[in-house]
Amino acid sequence: MIQVRIDPAIKNVIDNFRLPENLGFGNIMAPIMASCSYENGKWGELEIIPYGPISMYPNAKVLHYAQEIFEGMKAYRIDGKGPFIFRPAENFLRFNRSAERMAMPHIPKDIFLQATFDLIAYCSKVVPSHSGESLYLRPFMFATEEALGIKPSEKFRFMVIASPSGSYFTSEGLSVLIERFAARAFPGGTGFAKAGGNYAASLLAAIKAKNMGYVQTLWLDGRERKYIEEMSGMNFFAVIDGALHTPLLNDSILDGITRRSIMTLAQDKGINVIERKMDIEELLKDIKAERCTEAFACGTAAIIAPINFLAEENGERFPLKNHEGKISIELREDLLALQEGRAKDPYHWVEYIEPKSI
Ligand code: COI
Repeated sequence: MIQVRIDPAIKNVIDNFRLPENLGFGNIMAPIMASCSYENGKWGELEIIPYGPISMYPNAKVLHYAQEIFEGMKAYRIDGKGPFIFRPAENFLRFNRSAERMAMPHIPKDIFLQATFDLIAYCSKVVPSHSGESLYLRPFMFATEEALGIKPSEKFRFMVIASPSGSYFTSEGLSVLIERFAARAFPGGTGFAKAGGNYAASLLAAIKAKNMGYVQTLWLDGRERKYIEEMSGMNFFAVIDGALHTPLLNDSILDGITRRSIMTLAQDKGINVIERKMDIEELLKDIKAERCTEAFACGTAAIIAPINFLAEENGERFPLKNHEGKISIELREDLLALQEGRAKDPYHWVEYIEPKSI
């Protein structure tokens, strides 16, 4: 157990916090946050403080060179059970893989987990209680050194903030534009890291997709624009001839924890899971031939979001006939039941967090 400084001011803000009826995703912020700074090669004290603005010099390196990484996790408290958190050690490991790629220091496991767990423990009443809702946790780290030279920062801040949230998407099914021109990531780049810059790189295409009436972008590989990669913030799956297919990971695809969990759940249900390079033209043929019956996006925020259709910029559409199909619905329900503590957990993926009060 590490030493944590609990600011006594958190009592007031927690006591005064009221959970609104309509949550949305990531709009309402929990009343407290965790913070820990890194300087002179060492991490300092972990603090739990009221949520609020932070101060930084305008020449802090993150503002110029985007040295920043983050994670997404969820805590659940459904039917009076919990709070539970899902596979937090996996997020910790990925955070440090992202840190390495972005020339940032590793965060010790006890700081990462204690910060996250304390936020949940003190905010247990802030965790929403309807199925499909959760407390979305956002650990992140950024470069704070005040200097404009292009060199890795020597000062960083690690924080965890949280947002009581509902579903990321409405239940309609996603309309997805295949991005044939821009690239989100490329071999040797930072695509596998959960770095803010990767998301910034996806935004222009997101505007284009939105203006054309679609809600998401399907990214292809950066070299040939031939193989399906991911959907920025979500991984991609397709059900073809009853088997579950997903792009084989490479250094431009995020290694999704939801992705891996779904693969395990599917395999254990007897569904054949195939990780491979997925050629977009082949997939479109499989959709036309109705061999591909379902496709879905998955991620911490989205859980499993069925895809209604894929589309080209010329307006051609490839509808998934059975887009809310059996496999995506079953996997979503299995995963959510586990995460919400409603189902047996043979994998030991779910951890209970003892609530704390001040
Ligand atoms: C998550 O699922 O945590 C994500 O990374 C998506 C987020 C960028 C909204």
